[in-house]
Amino acid sequence: MKLLCDRIRKDGKALNESVLKVDSFINHQVDPQLMEALGEDFARHFQDRGITKVFTIESSGIAPAYVTARFMGLPLVILKKQTSRILNGNVYQTKVTSFTKGTTYQLTLDRKYIDPEDKILLIDDFLANGEAATGAATVIRESGAELTAIGILIEKSFQRGRRRLEDAGYEVYSQARISRLDQGLIEFLED
Ligand code: G4P
Repeated sequence: MKLLCDRIRKDGKALNESVLKVDSFINHQVDPQLMEALGEDFARHFQDRGITKVFTIESSGIAPAYVTARFMGLPLVILKKQTSRILNGNVYQTKVTSFTKGTTYQLTLDRKYIDPEDKILLIDDFLANGEAATGAATVIRESGAELTAIGILIEKSFQRGRRRLEDAGYEVYSQARISRLDQGLIEFLED
């Protein structure tokens, strides 16, 4: 998506060969007009898939997922990152490890916010190794619902996330696909 790629070229900062900072418009300061456009694009892209709910993972996915849900006229569900397991049986949980941040959490979904008939669209800001999305797929599968498609703002195509999700049978649409990063250098797949 040209709008997002242009914005990354203008305001993104590649720190090294693996990390892109987008703090000034996506995940620290947020540009609401950009989020509106990204959410509208996702809504248009996924409009004919029979989606019943939009899911995201806290926290940086919330802004674009909210706009997507609003354009689609659907509820938004935010998967929580808990520090420990909840043992009361009211939740679906799975352990996720972030390689980028070196953290581990229990991805958590209250059972009352998903039905076996649901067709879920997952929206997230970054796709790197696919750990978070794979965790989301696990809790959705456990509920009996379907993860119908995955929408990503920024895919780091040189990492294994997309391959992993596609191999597992999921459709992935990324608005910006980055083929290479290095200090001060950002290359896109379509360049
Ligand atoms: P994965 O889910 O695709 O495997 O990604 P990974 O574990 O490697 O990274 C997880 C966290 O790191 C995510 O944030 C993701 O947004 C963030 N991340 C990954 N690559 C980059 C990058 O190049 N730049 C930036 N700025 N962030 C990156 P999170 O832990 O879910 O936190 P939150 O920001 O959503 O709260």
